[in-house]
Amino acid sequence: MFGSRGILALGVLLLISVIGGQAESIPCKLKDADHGKVCVCTADYCDYLENPILTEDNEFALISSSKLGLRFATSSGKFGTEEKFTVPDYVEPAPEAVNATILSRLLDKVVASAFTLDSRESSITRSVTLQLDRSKTHQKMVGFGGSYTGAVTYLVENFKQPELADHLYKSFYAEEGAGFNLMRVSIGGCDFDLEAWAYAEEEGNTQLSGMDELDARDVERVAQIKRLVEVSGVKNLLVKGAAWSAPPWMKTNNKWTGFGRLKRDYYQTWADYHLRWIKLMEDNGIPIWAISTGNEPLNGIFFMFFVKFMSMGWTPQTQAIWLNDYLGPAIRNSEFKDIILFGNDDQRYSFPHWFKMMNYTRPNSIDYLDGLALHWYWDEIFGNSFIEQTKAYVPDKIMIVSESCIGDKPWQAAAPLLGSWERAEKYVRDYLANIKLGFHGWIDWNICLDEAGGPNYVDNTVDAPVIVNTTTFDEFYKQPMFYGIGHFSKLVPEGSLRIDAIPSNVNLDTVAFLRPDNKIAAVLFNSGRADLDISVVDSVRGKFTVNIPAKSIHTLLYN
Ligand SMILES: *[C@@H]1O[C@H](CO)[C@@H](O)[C@H](O)[C@H]1NC(C)=O
Ligand SMILES: *[C@@H]1O[C@H](CO)[C@@H](O)[C@H](O)[C@H]1NC(C)=O
Ligand SMILES: *[C@@H]1O[C@H](CO)[C@@H](O)[C@H](O)[C@H]1NC(C)=O
Repeated sequence: MFGSRGILALGVLLLISVIGGQAESIPCKLKDADHGKVCVCTADYCDYLENPILTEDNEFALISSSKLGLRFATSSGKFGTEEKFTVPDYVEPAPEAVNATILSRLLDKVVASAFTLDSRESSITRSVTLQLDRSKTHQKMVGFGGSYTGAVTYLVENFKQPELADHLYKSFYAEEGAGFNLMRVSIGGCDFDLEAWAYAEEEGNTQLSGMDELDARDVERVAQIKRLVEVSGVKNLLVKGAAWSAPPWMKTNNKWTGFGRLKRDYYQTWADYHLRWIKLMEDNGIPIWAISTGNEPLNGIFFMFFVKFMSMGWTPQTQAIWLNDYLGPAIRNSEFKDIILFGNDDQRYSFPHWFKMMNYTRPNSIDYLDGLALHWYWDEIFGNSFIEQTKAYVPDKIMIVSESCIGDKPWQAAAPLLGSWERAEKYVRDYLANIKLGFHGWIDWNICLDEAGGPNYVDNTVDAPVIVNTTTFDEFYKQPMFYGIGHFSKLVPEGSLRIDAIPSNVNLDTVAFLRPDNKIAAVLFNSGRADLDISVVDSVRGKFTVNIPAKSIHTLLYN
């Protein structure tokens, strides 16, 4: 099973003082890629981590990933222990040391002594105290997820073996994977499809006839999502839909893209279209949790010279009218009245102005919205105040990030950087920032893409947490980004409450949650070049100190 590929630098993540119940865990098969390390999955091998089981009240478990090569490595210890606890960083095994005998011994035995601190890149240690207080609670989390686009469907369809698809599904949605529970899908096509498409494309089909059957371009996607639900065992998959564009005949420019809006004559038709799609998905075994008022409405208004893919323009004024007079009443008076409606589905710079203008046009139209959806692309340029002002203006809305990926900007490599730890850090930094701002959930973009960052019909290429080898279609690579997201999604289930987690200095970035099972999960991020001693002080459990390596991310779990 191991070592057949000479180039594979095999990474074996050791289980240090295992606390039981982890028999199903399978370590990452590390491979050196151009920009760092990835984990390789094939039809007969993929890494998983059973969630830690705590057997004693004062016990904690720590899951760790690092730039050097830890990937969901687990360790454990106890509150109240005087000595410092250490998470050893990954050590590259000497090639001659990697043989089947040794591997099997390492895999089923606990070999804490195999690690020494000499392996650390850094000789500096900084320290920080982290104060956790479960009595100070904030937002209740909805969850984490990714998007199932036409590009994902195409790639999975071409996998050599069905077992590889099952590994992809379980890697994201199973408990022993990243534990996702959210999913975004497009209503019709999107920019990551092989062609622009919509339901009811025939000119003048105002009756939306044919919408009681899946379009040929949706058949395979729906089948795959159903398989995903089956093999991953995801308990409460929350699916959010968004339309990129109406069929051209409903639009002012009669095109898929460019400066085009929905014709006034079709406001009711477009609302009906959404209802018909919700019903269609439900009839086909995929109940819909939420829809948005449309993907990136400003693309068809301000950015039509840059955006080459499916888009439809809305101003806040026109969207207020459509929502208040058509979509809102259509949904709320239907059998799907409890569907969650998200507004905006666009970038930070439009917050909160978008909602103020909507309310100005149709007073209280924003009452139809249960939630606000944000795309992360301009988070680094438009500061937190855009979100803080929005929260002050419309409190009590569910806030989710509904799209994120790297490679959309002219100054970024618009392609996957295989193994990039820096991209994982960018994710973790923004997840932390937005969760601290009160976001309830996060849905990433394409769960997987090919080596070039596609495919799609406009050659719009970006990175993704899993990259598929399309030379062979028999393996995929889990990027550091996958683990970065997983450090949030895996141990922070739906219904977790964010609690106060206050580090004594900037060497640690963190958020913490009180889970529905009353356990505490905290994400710990050391982006520095130095190792870090963290003294964790919990208002109920007491204290322990752990040393974590430079450039590492952890999830701490305790009672
Ligand atoms: C594997 O390595 C061990 C320790 O170096 C050595 O004793 C053993 O003979 C090796 N096995 C094979 C099959 O090379
Ligand atoms: C929306 O507009 C109405 C009417 O002008 C006003 O009463 C209401 O307070 C506004 N809502 C918000 C959240 O500002
Ligand atoms: C995909 O597989 C082929 C054949 O094994 C290999 O040559 C190529 O390097 C792989 N691609 C990547 C990105 O690892």
